[in-house]
Amino acid sequence: MSIDFHARENRYTYASRQAHPDWAAAIRSVVDPSGLRVADVGCGGGIYSAAWADIGAAEVVGVDFSEQMVQAATEKNSGRPNISFRKGEAVSTGLPSGSVDIVFERALIHHLADYDACFREANRLLRPAGLSVIQDRRPDDVRLAGSSDHIRGYFFECFPRLLDIEMSRRPTDAAVERALQEAGFAPPRRMTVWETRRRYQGFQELSQDLLGRVGRSILHDLTDAELARLVAFIGQRIAPNRPVTERDRWTIWCGGKA
Ligand SMILES: C[S@@+](CC[C@H](N)C(=O)[O-])C[C@H]1O[C@@H](n2cnc3c(N)ncnc32)[C@H](O)[C@@H]1O
Repeated sequence: MSIDFHARENRYTYASRQAHPDWAAAIRSVVDPSGLRVADVGCGGGIYSAAWADIGAAEVVGVDFSEQMVQAATEKNSGRPNISFRKGEAVSTGLPSGSVDIVFERALIHHLADYDACFREANRLLRPAGLSVIQDRRPDDVRLAGSSDHIRGYFFECFPRLLDIEMSRRPTDAAVERALQEAGFAPPRRMTVWETRRRYQGFQELSQDLLGRVGRSILHDLTDAELARLVAFIGQRIAPNRPVTERDRWTIWCGGKA
């Protein structure tokens, strides 16, 4: 069964870590957000909304269709007056036209049946020459083998059916580029980034994160028994008492409003 973003038990699943400096460096290589207004659409628990403010954005508004996510994000970012959250659909956020400089969509579009309406909404939100920044994993990013730092690759080695799910939903370059251009963006710049997801003291801490299905929607497609098998499978492949640095490979597309 796929993840239910609206369930109370999942409210902190995208709120319990901080963006790594890898991510900030990748973003800074394409845009300096100092003093800019950012909309973080599909913001989850606001990890990246906070990260945009941390790297200088003047104002960040996170939008998510899940009331639970919006509540968790609001709670985690209380005391930061330049970060706010609201409930809204990716295709109809409720934000005013031309109100932001950057629209950021991380790990959102593979959950959407249709990118076109989402990118049209991003275009509407942006001021002239504003920037759409989309971060997701392409099929090539997903297919990478498992290793002591690319833990996610083991998911597919252990349960090939999870790879079928990913292959059917992950965005291709062609699909993203076409939809962006049809929505009124210039041909996007694309880059590949290894983002550190989290550091763990050892396998024990990693296994708790996996068993909690924290921030990895694909793990909701396993039963509890299958998830336990996956954790044992990974445990046989990495050193038990060494720190683990978990990284994922992502693609970032940046398209300016034409
Ligand atoms: C995989 S999570 C990513 C969360 C966050 N962007 C991050 O990278 O940590 C996807 C988020 O998109 C939200 N979402 C999915 N479909 C949506 C839609 N149609 N409109 C708005 N939000 C949506 C979910 O509720 C969830 O919070």
